[in-house]
Amino acid sequence: MMGMALAVLAGCGQEKPTEYEGWKLVWHDEFDKDGVPDPDSWIFEEGFVRNKELQWYQSQNAECKDGFLVIEGRKERVKNPDYNADGKSWRESREFAEYTSSSVQTRGKREFLYGRFEVRAKIPVASGAWPAIWTLGIQKPWPSCGEIDIMEYYKIGGEPHILANAAWGTNRKDIPKWNSSKLPYAKFISRDPEWAAKFHVWRMDWDQEFIRLYLDDELLNEIPLSTTVNGSEGNHINPFKTPHYILLNLAMGGNGGEVDESLLPLRYEIDYVRVYQKKKEPYTAFHPGKIWEDTDGVHINAHGGGILYHNGTYYWYGEHKSEHSSSALVGVRVYSSTDLYNWKNEGVALPVMPSGSGHKIEKGCVIERPKVIYNEKTKKFVMWFHLELKGQGYAAAEYGVAASDTPVGPFRFLYASRSCPGVWPQNMSEVEIAKARSFKDFSRKGKEWKQNVIDGMCVARDMKIGQMARDMTLFVDDDGKAYHIFSSEENHTLHIAELTEDYLYHTDKYVRILPGGHNEAPAIFKKEGVYWMITSGCTGWKPNAARLSRATSIWGPWESLPNPCVGEKAELTFDSQSTYILPVEGKRDTWIFMADRWRPKNPIDARYIWLPIAFEDGKPVLKWADEWKMSE
Ligand code: GAL
Repeated sequence: MMGMALAVLAGCGQEKPTEYEGWKLVWHDEFDKDGVPDPDSWIFEEGFVRNKELQWYQSQNAECKDGFLVIEGRKERVKNPDYNADGKSWRESREFAEYTSSSVQTRGKREFLYGRFEVRAKIPVASGAWPAIWTLGIQKPWPSCGEIDIMEYYKIGGEPHILANAAWGTNRKDIPKWNSSKLPYAKFISRDPEWAAKFHVWRMDWDQEFIRLYLDDELLNEIPLSTTVNGSEGNHINPFKTPHYILLNLAMGGNGGEVDESLLPLRYEIDYVRVYQKKKEPYTAFHPGKIWEDTDGVHINAHGGGILYHNGTYYWYGEHKSEHSSSALVGVRVYSSTDLYNWKNEGVALPVMPSGSGHKIEKGCVIERPKVIYNEKTKKFVMWFHLELKGQGYAAAEYGVAASDTPVGPFRFLYASRSCPGVWPQNMSEVEIAKARSFKDFSRKGKEWKQNVIDGMCVARDMKIGQMARDMTLFVDDDGKAYHIFSSEENHTLHIAELTEDYLYHTDKYVRILPGGHNEAPAIFKKEGVYWMITSGCTGWKPNAARLSRATSIWGPWESLPNPCVGEKAELTFDSQSTYILPVEGKRDTWIFMADRWRPKNPIDARYIWLPIAFEDGKPVLKWADEWKMSE
């Protein structure tokens, strides 16, 4: 121990990379080979630096020696090739740079998305020194590429500070948004007067949810990625969900303060740079509500989804959501799995059409709750989804149909439509139809509006153009007949419509069920001849209590039963909304309730709630579990 402490004080390199459980060292440079920084990993950025003062020139003053990378800040006069006596721009304004220093970068050589980054360094703190350990996103330009300052040391109001920051793009070019932590350097010196003479470890732990910046294991800043989405100038993307490269540099003057020439050369010594990434062990259980990574380590993007089992593989289709928008900017995504825990990204099953194409599924439309079924007769995979046209909010209320020869697509869009125009539901009698037809005023007013909807006012209203078709699911019965179950009549009444033999169209046979019940998000399964349906109420992205209903014929009558959820947050369906019920292949009486925990402010971050369906007293019951497995 003594020996080690001495070694650290004397500034010797720390030999062996730390081993962290669950992490793997993916790249490191210990700077053990004397000479120029390893060209396989590092490049020099050379040139005059964009700084009003133009005090320094970025040169090649970085060298590995005795196990350290040493960046030197020297007094050295370099002529500015852009100098122009009349010049107004910063490039032209100064004839000479007075100092040279270096910026070494892993750009184009070593780029990383997420991980643990560790840099052990001794920084120069003399006036004029402005050292940094930072990263930039590989996509240009700044600031929408994203910048992370794992360490920056400079003066604020004349006082030196240690900073831990991130910056990203806004609605205005060149104007970043910052999340900064600024700690007075005096704080570190008061704790340890020898602080500057020692090496310290700067660390970043970066994952899909947070950037956490540490100095000697003390957390300096925690930046939630839910807050770091670029504005319009940065294409609304999250620059911290793309790879970054590392920069080590020493700037001179400017915010570092006046250069104290008596203390030159400045020495910035880096012992190592180490990058670890999480070892990805396959999942062996479900973890409802947690980030669910695909086999590439990226949160699954298949919301409002549904599952198809085909030839030993499960396919999970769902809405690709973006950071700032719930609209379809990409399309319907598909993942595959053989065990339901581990999912491989199979790409975009149904891509949206280009913006401006005027196509019904043009980029920016709304595609929700896609479900895919396989047609044995035609050997086609058929996708149905809820479609809202671009720029029309939720007014269109159509369903869309697409088909493919393979489960992963790409699916061909076939058509989109309202449901069953000109056709009255099977379960409305002549008397009821006559009453529905008698409505002349369809405006939403008064208490009687709801009763009017129950009495078929919307059915009559939409008879010509077809019935509204929003939240939906598909169900294939034991006899191979398929049904489209969807929220209609301003979401007040569910409709169940039979599909043609090829599953591509409605047969025009349909019923209204639970009229006026205000059900959304239907999910259905069948057990021993009984159809069970779980739905939600209608509160948009906010969760509400699930509803249960049952029938012995798909055509009804459907009987309403209480919320099947029990326990804490049962009244909010555990903060989620149903989307599908999956019968697990080969396992008797095993169904998985699939639901979405929406994140309307950051839709891509929405979570999946998968829970087992148990039967108690002959009825389905849902209970929360932080973690669960299917029985063997
Ligand atoms: C929910 C519905 C979602 C989506 C959302 C829009 O109630 O289930 O699929 O349409 O409203 O606010």
